[in-house]
Amino acid sequence: MAWNADLYKEKHAFVFNYGNSVVEWLQPKTGESILDLGCGTGELTAQIAESGAKVKGIDASASMIASAKSHYPSIDFEVADGTTFSLNQTFDAVFSNATLHWIRQKEKVLDRIWHHLKPGGKLVLEMGGKGNVDDITGALSKAMEEKGYEFKPFWYFPSPGEYTSLLEEYDFRVNQLSYFDRETELADPENGIVEWLQMFGAYYLEAIPEAERLPILKAAQESLRATNFRDGKWYTKYVRLRVKAEKIADAQ
Ligand code: BEZ
Repeated sequence: MAWNADLYKEKHAFVFNYGNSVVEWLQPKTGESILDLGCGTGELTAQIAESGAKVKGIDASASMIASAKSHYPSIDFEVADGTTFSLNQTFDAVFSNATLHWIRQKEKVLDRIWHHLKPGGKLVLEMGGKGNVDDITGALSKAMEEKGYEFKPFWYFPSPGEYTSLLEEYDFRVNQLSYFDRETELADPENGIVEWLQMFGAYYLEAIPEAERLPILKAAQESLRATNFRDGKWYTKYVRLRVKAEKIADAQ
């Protein structure tokens, strides 16, 4: 997916603002080496660096990495794909906020993380969990299907049980897990749902001819007005899955 880093930074700051509390689970310390996987425009990477940890940020989007480098020139950032990255070091911890639901090859990314952690190293992540933005995807699928377009789910939003099993398969021990709803105010007070889908839903929009996109997005938005719009603001139901795990020290 092609990201517009400036638009993301300007209008969707809630993504990294909410990430502050994920950094609290990480508890970074001076001297630790930490990899921020899916660092986006680098705000949380910079916050982690303030602890004195030596942090590296990677992201598959060149535009996100260019923005991160220009705002935080003293931090090491690199364009790298979550399913294939191969860095010449291992880390005390891997951190990831709001990224892993974009990576459908979930096994590959866990394999890469595992190989980049020292024995006993920590993995702290937050991603969308089962039920995340179901209101928006439900409304969009209905609006698409009414116009004859097939809606195919794209994001990976696992349940706590499913993700714990996957982590265990990859020799991680889950130490802490939280699964919770987070009602989230959308950036655009007029067209919150339309704008959110234009920012994040490129995969779905590709299935619709350009001239028909806006009417379908507006139909989806209108079907949510009674439930998701109040006091002049649009909301959606984010569901978060937050996990702290460790690489089992003697796993091979
Ligand atoms: C999320 O952070 O949960 C999310 C953001 C954009 C698209 C899908 C999920």
